[in-house]
Amino acid sequence: MKIASFFSGIGGFDLGFEKAGHEIVFQCEIDSFCKMILNYHWPKVPFADDILEVQDGKTVPNADVWCGGFPCQDVSLARARQRHGLNGSRSGLFYDFAELLDHARPPIVIIENVPGLLSSNGGKDFEIVIRSLAKSGYAVGWRVFNSQYFGVPQSRSRVYIVGHLGGPRFTSEILFEPERSNRKPKASSVAGKKSISPFKESLRDPRTGAIVQRLSYCLAATSGRHTGTDWSRSYVCYPNAVRRFTPVEYERLQGFPDNWTYPPQLRNDTIDYDTQRYTALGNAVSVPVAKWIGQQIARLGN
Ligand SMILES: C[S@@+](CC[C@H](N)C(=O)[O-])C[C@H]1O[C@@H](n2cnc3c(N)ncnc32)[C@H](O)[C@@H]1O
Repeated sequence: MKIASFFSGIGGFDLGFEKAGHEIVFQCEIDSFCKMILNYHWPKVPFADDILEVQDGKTVPNADVWCGGFPCQDVSLARARQRHGLNGSRSGLFYDFAELLDHARPPIVIIENVPGLLSSNGGKDFEIVIRSLAKSGYAVGWRVFNSQYFGVPQSRSRVYIVGHLGGPRFTSEILFEPERSNRKPKASSVAGKKSISPFKESLRDPRTGAIVQRLSYCLAATSGRHTGTDWSRSYVCYPNAVRRFTPVEYERLQGFPDNWTYPPQLRNDTIDYDTQRYTALGNAVSVPVAKWIGQQIARLGN
């Protein structure tokens, strides 16, 4: 399917969807570092800098799916001060996205944000998001996914909202798996047998012989404040030393290929990109989660 990506960042959604077989036909991102990364990986994709300057129909090519994680700073629970929610200047960009969506009405829309969106302004902000999509004709569903269950070693919960013009059956078929309602979990508990669900792969523990679920969560890369730069405060401890994660380790935590945010074209010994890399990676959608959603959409068709 054709995907239009908004608030594209360094392309977490874009890469995940591409891995699921879809085609990126549009990107929109204002940050100059992120733009450089997107333009490097997708040099031919039509691009807009600022969502406020996007005029639908003229700027956004036809797409089956619109996706985007609008800025989360004003709804994030990690924020030290009062949360302005959708009244904030950054998270308020949701309204601009929703207005464009209402005009273009692509068949499917996927929105990602921090779980704080569920509670900011006492839940009113989330109500606004859902109602606004519903008013544009979308059947809406949502689910909180934690990246740790998609094969990356970090605990990262995010809410994913799916709108589908075809009706509620489609949103739930994208977000939920039929296997989850099968009350026979033992059926898939055979060593080496691959389940259709990425959450469930059973392996035999070589030491104890026990059958264990294949889940990786050896690191909890959470922080007390906002998600982005604060990752630089997560440390790796050795018996006699401590160090920060390297940017490549952050890329791995998010499921990006090594050096996704430091491609050869950018290499310049006089510029230190680490801070931008940490921030952009901290803001990104985990690639395997996006890929899984992309596969669910592909399975369904539109
Ligand atoms: C939560 S991040 C999304 C990250 C992205 N999903 C990824 O995987 O990297 C929100 C993004 O919105 C961008 N943004 C903020 N204001 C914008 C605007 N007016 N127009 C376009 N993008 C904007 C930010 O620079 C940031 O990269």
